[in-house]
Amino acid sequence: MPINKLETKNKTTNEKKVVLITGAAQGIGFATVKKFLKEGWAVAATDIKKKELDERVKALTAEGYDITGYVLDVTKYNQDKKVVDQIVKKYGRIDALFNNAGIVGHRPTILNFDPKLIHQAEEVNLWAGLYLAQLVGRVFVEKKIKGSIVNVSSLAASFVDWSPFGYGISKAAVDGFTRAAAFHLGKYGIRVNSVAPGYTKTEMAIKYDYSNPKLRKAAESKTLLNRWIEPSEIANAVYFLSSDEASAITGAKLPVDAGYTTTKESNLKSIYDEDN
Ligand code: NAI
Repeated sequence: MPINKLETKNKTTNEKKVVLITGAAQGIGFATVKKFLKEGWAVAATDIKKKELDERVKALTAEGYDITGYVLDVTKYNQDKKVVDQIVKKYGRIDALFNNAGIVGHRPTILNFDPKLIHQAEEVNLWAGLYLAQLVGRVFVEKKIKGSIVNVSSLAASFVDWSPFGYGISKAAVDGFTRAAAFHLGKYGIRVNSVAPGYTKTEMAIKYDYSNPKLRKAAESKTLLNRWIEPSEIANAVYFLSSDEASAITGAKLPVDAGYTTTKESNLKSIYDEDN
């Protein structure tokens, strides 16, 4: 879908803020790419999927947006370092990191998990993001930039449902990472927050939940708004947390879940079969 062009598109490179987005080729990552571009930022879009990333970057560049694509497997730490260095070389700065890349990984129960596979989700969802926070955090400190980091938590960080438990563990750990990074970086004016999406219509969710009518219905019926979330709605929250509008917010987790966690926590819907 074409994105609205604003006059900010014409800002010169060194007037622009720069955001590094991981997992940018599809889903929430790509929606966030479009949001930042629309707001006049330059975007360093990274993903493990070269073909999809190249196509997206080419199309947006042809529309006149300031976007550069970097093929990056976030779990390959030497690649992370190289890409961060390349972005700093090209733009001279980084103002925000969106640690979005994520996988569901191994889907067993406690009784049948494979110890060699159970780390899959953590590698991408937790440790890679943590290392990128270190690399980009060092750029912020070195260049005296009061930057922002936004991580992606999940419903699965707060409770267990049909989500794979290894994924849930990784997202609960992301909450710890967000708090620790906010604690360590606050004295430099650097803010660290997370968004906690509810069931969002992306390639990941379509594959696992949305395509199963029972899970699709179950997910929407647990929300106060009785619906799934659009990737652009998560992107808006990520942009807000990254922008100066959120200048006093750090260490926070912002649920963007159509009220799913509210019903879970109060359990109203499962106790009373009422409309309100
Ligand atoms: P998606 O599967 O549609 O997109 C994820 C992107 O990450 C893909 O472009 C993929 O190529 C990339 N990626 C995967 N492994 C990578 C690696 N090792 N290095 C670099 N890139 C890699 O997923 P979606 O739904 O957009 O998810 C984005 C984030 O939101 C994830 O962290 C996910 O856990 C989280 N989330 C999603 C929810 C949903 O309902 N869709 C709900 C809660 C959290």
